[in-house]
Order: sequence, then C-alpha cells, then structure tokens
Amino acid sequence: MKRAIVTGATSGIGAATVGALRGAGYAVLAVARRPDRLDGLAQETGAQILAADVRDIATIRAAVDDFKPDVLVNNAGVGHGIDGFAEAGDALIQEAVDVNVTSLLQLTGVVLPAMIENRAGHIVNIGSIAGLHTVASALYGATKAAVHIFSQNLRNELVGTGIRVTEICPGRVATEFYAAAKGDRERLDRMGSTGIRELDPKDVAAAILYAVGTPAHVNVATIELLPTDQAVGGIKLKASHETT
Ligand SMILES: NC(=O)c1ccc[n+]([C@@H]2O[C@H](COP(=O)([O-])OP(=O)(O)OC[C@H]3O[C@@H](n4cnc5c(N)ncnc54)[C@H](OP(=O)(O)O)[C@@H]3O)[C@@H](O)[C@H]2O)c1
Repeated sequence: MKRAIVTGATSGIGAATVGALRGAGYAVLAVARRPDRLDGLAQETGAQILAADVRDIATIRAAVDDFKPDVLVNNAGVGHGIDGFAEAGDALIQEAVDVNVTSLLQLTGVVLPAMIENRAGHIVNIGSIAGLHTVASALYGATKAAVHIFSQNLRNELVGTGIRVTEICPGRVATEFYAAAKGDRERLDRMGSTGIRELDPKDVAAAILYAVGTPAHVNVATIELLPTDQAVGGIKLKASHETT
C-alpha cells in the first residue's frame, strides 16, 4: 500500500485530497492544527492524523520519520495580506512566509533523504496562479512564486533519482481560504464571494490524483487549473489623481 502525507488536511483542497487518496487505496497521514476536524476526517476516511502546526518541524519530523511516505502533498497555506501588502505588517508577513514557504521547504527536506535512498517518491506542491502571474497579491504571490521556482529547481536537482516533483497551480477554489485569511475583513469577504462558478476542492484533488497515478516514468511537472469563468493576464490602468 502506498503512503501519502497531506498537510493542511482539515478543509478545502487538503481534505478533498485526503479523501481522494484514501479512495485510491493510499494510507494517508493528515496534518493540520484543528483536532476536532482531524477526528472527523479520520472517521470519514480512515486516515491517520497528526494535530500539528507545520511550523513545528520537530514534531512533524518525528511523525514523518515513522510514517515513511511515498508521496508528500505540501498543501497547507494561508492567504494573509491578500488585501494589500502595505497593510500586512510584520506578523502576517512572517506567518505567510513561514507557513507557505519555510515549512514546505523544511518538510520536503525531511522526506527527501529516504526517497533518494529508495530511488522513488513524489513531492506535490500546491502553488497558485498568484505564483505564476501578476494578480496584485504581493505577499501571497511572493510566497507562491517561491513555491514555483523551488519546484522547478528541485525537479532539476533530482533528475536521475527517480523522484517526481509536481506543482499544482489553481485559480479560484471554493474553500475557507478567504475566511481564514487575516486582513481587512470586509475586503476579504468581498474577495471571497465572486459569484462565478469556482473550482471545487475535489477538482484540485482529482488533478493531484492524476499526477500521482501516472506511471513512474511520467512526471507531471506543472498543472495550472482555472475555473472556466476565470482568466489571468492583462494590463491595469488607473490614473494616479483618482487615488489622491
Ligand atoms: N482557495 C483558493 O482559491 C486557492 C487558490 C490557489 C491556491 N490555493 C492554495 O491551496 C492550498 C489549500 O488552501 P485551501 O484553499 O484549501 O484553503 P483552506 O480551506 O483555508 O485550507 C487551508 C488548510 O491549511 C491548514 N493550515 C493553515 N495554517 C497551518 C499551519 N500553520 N499548520 C498546519 N496547517 C495549517 C488549515 O488547517 P488548520 O487551520 O486546521 O491548521 C487548512 O486545513 C493553500 O496552499 C492555498 O494557498 C488556494
């Protein structure tokens, strides 16, 4: 039986991915902070659970060393500061970088040595269109751009080891992401209700399942997954006298 770790497993994309991987026969270790949600997930899917903050790498390392995953899904992430970098402040900048980047790098660093020894393994990083394109999310975009270039470089470094690196870059997904983000509440609530048909977390989980389910000689490098009602790109024009 293949074994997968999923971080950020208590809601949205992470919870859907745990369900999808369990459905495909994986043993799953689900990691997130909220124990009540984890208990529900364990009952629903049969996943093993670890109530931990991904920033607590010592706790995570101990559990991961025991679990020995074939697949790591680095999904935990926060959208703080998405309402404007100038308003973010030290604490939110720190948390966004720590959760979205540092913990992802550290956890990958924890699992890689055993994968390299086994000459097999799969790292799946959840990036974002904000890491690939200009979408006026300076803080969040900086963290996801780091995830993007890390994924690209890691794939390059690991070539010849048999280890695969996949980056999934979703557009809008209907999750608790905006409700969980810290920043101007009114603005975040407004951003969280688009009126379009957003991706369902299960759509992203299906893309992850596709990537991990391909034969070992196939590396699905990057998937950019958008709602049909969303597009990126374009030029923004706004006269400065309008804002003074
Ligand atoms: N929703 C979108 O439109 C969208 C688009 C592109 C990319 N993404 C990315 O997709 C990933 C999942 O987001 P989502 O949309 O599913 O949002 P979500 O529903 O808010 O889920 C975020 C998950 O991350 C966990 N988490 C947050 N901080 C954590 C920490 N310090 N330690 C451990 N777990 C932590 C949360 O669990 P606990 O609070 O229980 O710890 C939760 O399970 C993120 O990386 C996000 O950047 C989302």
